[in-house]
Amino acid sequence: MQKLNVNGIQLAYERRGKGTPLVLLHGFPLDHHLWDAVLPPLEDTFDLILPDLRGFGESSTVDSFYAMEDYASDIAGLLDGLGIRKAAVAGHSMGGYVALAFARLFPERVRGLALVSSQVLADSPERKDGRYKSAAEVAEHGIGSVVEAMTPKLTPDKKLQAFARQSMERQPPAAYIGALKAMAERVDSTTLLSSFLFPVVLIHGDADALIPVDRAREVKAALPQAHLVEISGAGHMPMMEDREKTAQALKHLA
Ligand code: MLT
Repeated sequence: MQKLNVNGIQLAYERRGKGTPLVLLHGFPLDHHLWDAVLPPLEDTFDLILPDLRGFGESSTVDSFYAMEDYASDIAGLLDGLGIRKAAVAGHSMGGYVALAFARLFPERVRGLALVSSQVLADSPERKDGRYKSAAEVAEHGIGSVVEAMTPKLTPDKKLQAFARQSMERQPPAAYIGALKAMAERVDSTTLLSSFLFPVVLIHGDADALIPVDRAREVKAALPQAHLVEISGAGHMPMMEDREKTAQALKHLA
């Protein structure tokens, strides 16, 4: 992977393909390999930029508290380093929260936005509390319990579960803790939607056990011009569970 120094972090990224710049942001607690399966059908259409968010994969981390806005500012710094002013941004789950923070901070740099298995809502007080409990658990006992709890919820497909589990086990505890706190503190983006003047794509499995498909339907209701693709039978990982439909949907951002 290539690396760029951004905000005091060695940000690792992969770059493939030719065309419209499209940043693909992975979810929690994964890295850019999440997107591997869906890259071949996209690389004739897009200049694909795949960062590992700070702390994950091959990117370095910081010890201090950080927020969704910091991940977003890392992406802006990465685009600056690559000489790209404006890009489409697609985020999976937590990557969607980062994409929303990016759109809030840098609206003039967004040429399109995709939320894949994600949502615009903030955490409920109970969910927030659960995130802090998980962060404390990871700090004390390691990542095991989070990996165990998440694996069966990602997808019913056992082979894909094994891939995701391996990926989750590669990530350091500090990345989990940083992301859990950043997710707990993220703001609600519902009102932000009305400011979106660029194409918006929503991709969601109708069997998602982590973020129900209703979250995507609610965004579509608030933003009728958004292109919603529901993937029948898919769980939380549509880019692996149905790569063709996911790729077709992302091409609306070209
Ligand atoms: C993710 O897949 O990125 C996370 O599960 C999202 C979340 O917990 O809200």
